[in-house]
Amino acid sequence: MISVRLFFLVIIVRYLQPVLNDICSNFKNESLCQTYSEEKELVCARELWNKYDKKVISTLSLCYWSEANFNPQILSDFPNLERFSLIKSSVKTIEKPFEDRPALQMLNISYNVIEQLLPLIFDKLQFLKVLDLRYNKLHQLEASMLKILPNLQNVFLVGNQWYCEENFLWITKQSNFADKIITDVDLLMCKGPKYNGKPLKQTMNMLETLNSQCSKMSDNCTCTLEHIVRVANNLRPMITVNCSNQNLNSLPHILPKFTSTLVVRGNMISSLDEFINNENYFHLLNVYLDYNNISSINVLEGSSWLLSSFRALSLKGNKLTEVPIYVLEYAFEKNRNVANLFLSENPWKCDCIFTPSFKDFLAKYRKIIKDVHDIKCAYREGDENSLVSISSLSRNKICYEDAIFKISFLKILNVCMTVLLAIILFDFTYNYYMYKKYSRLPWIVRKFS
Ligand SMILES: *[C@@H]1O[C@H](CO)[C@@H](O)[C@H](O)[C@H]1NC(C)=O
Ligand SMILES: *[C@@H]1O[C@H](CO)[C@@H](O)[C@H](O)[C@H]1NC(C)=O
Ligand SMILES: *[C@@H]1O[C@H](CO)[C@@H](O)[C@H](O)[C@H]1NC(C)=O
Ligand SMILES: *[C@@H]1O[C@H](CO)[C@@H](O)[C@H](O)[C@H]1NC(C)=O
Ligand SMILES: *[C@@H]1O[C@H](CO)[C@@H](O)[C@H](O)[C@H]1NC(C)=O
Repeated sequence: MISVRLFFLVIIVRYLQPVLNDICSNFKNESLCQTYSEEKELVCARELWNKYDKKVISTLSLCYWSEANFNPQILSDFPNLERFSLIKSSVKTIEKPFEDRPALQMLNISYNVIEQLLPLIFDKLQFLKVLDLRYNKLHQLEASMLKILPNLQNVFLVGNQWYCEENFLWITKQSNFADKIITDVDLLMCKGPKYNGKPLKQTMNMLETLNSQCSKMSDNCTCTLEHIVRVANNLRPMITVNCSNQNLNSLPHILPKFTSTLVVRGNMISSLDEFINNENYFHLLNVYLDYNNISSINVLEGSSWLLSSFRALSLKGNKLTEVPIYVLEYAFEKNRNVANLFLSENPWKCDCIFTPSFKDFLAKYRKIIKDVHDIKCAYREGDENSLVSISSLSRNKICYEDAIFKISFLKILNVCMTVLLAIILFDFTYNYYMYKKYSRLPWIVRKFS
């Protein structure tokens, strides 16, 4: 009884298979055609046989197609074709746009290796309702290719190698359009140089938000979505804002949300107040301030930016003469994520007060301070330390004059103290002797007491 049921089940499944989706699985890798549904449906593997009445065929499926190029001209022999599939093949290019096919409603070219589609390829398929492009190697798809088809209802795009670039912004901008017709829009993934493995739609949303926030900045800056990281279960954009060489006098006041790197090289910025006052700055990771007009970083003392967010800071080519060493040391100890600090090309003060501890500081943190050997004393005409690397300066060279002064001062002080002490001792002894001998103090002591 059971085996009879099983037998019928097998028959039914076998019969249904072409109607279900896996049409090709009936065929091995051999040339073969089969018809179903009273010869209205034709499935062929590898090549198309000519013995069928093509006028009655409404569904044509080609599997394991033997050539890498496909010419849609083949279809002109099938005037009543409603559904066409070219699947599970190694088709790389479709040579020409599809021709006018008033009856065609479904086009399935999934499971091939198509990298690129001709721009006008679908334009004449005005009655197309379903388009399946899944599992190819497509990188891009222009919205216009789909928008031109007024009857389109379901488009399948998953399993391609979508490059998530600006030209995919239509996925969000007219999100109504994309959401309505792209059935698997939420499953699409970025594949390629940028944002690999990240969801396409979410990536495009981030890009769109960034573009709109960037355009609101008053300065002429470029904003880049560098990459997207997973934080807990959320995706977080990592954004670089570049305002280099814009003649800025101050740091930009507005930054796009989630800006992690700020590049403001080659401006005339002198104040770092934004790091204290402006919330947009509190979560920056990397800041490149090279070649500006910064003469002090004292304002950063105790700032939460220095103690927790700071990863990289470049102050190359500014006007720094000294830095508060204890502030930086404290930040380095507290903030374990600090990776890079650049301090070269500044007019560093070289004196006996600041420089010895600065030199020790440079040595201690040479793994963080990446340009240690280029950190040099300021240019001073006639000074032998002028433009000398601080890490190679010996203590004697820095403290030379001071040292001579200190030694002679101490010697003089010493001699004076000794003489004074001798006088006091002599005086005491003399007084004692005189008192013992004459039972009274010398007249001079009596006179003054
Ligand atoms: C297109 O063909 C593939 C492979 O057989 C199948 O999985 C898919 O469901 C078909 N697409 C449509 C829209 O029927
Ligand atoms: C199918 O057979 C052809 C030769 O007839 C061969 O080149 C091709 O690799 C085979 N494909 C598969 C998937 O076995
Ligand atoms: C921004 O830069 C572009 C090109 O560098 C320039 O044409 C434009 O005038 C600049 N705009 C402002 C406001 O500086
Ligand atoms: C920033 O923009 C300048 C041009 O203004 C460019 O030369 C530089 O490479 C950019 N830097 C980064 C990190 O994008
Ligand atoms: C650089 O900053 C100083 C004050 O720190 C200021 O006096 C000077 O004008 C600034 N130079 C430029 C070119 O902005």
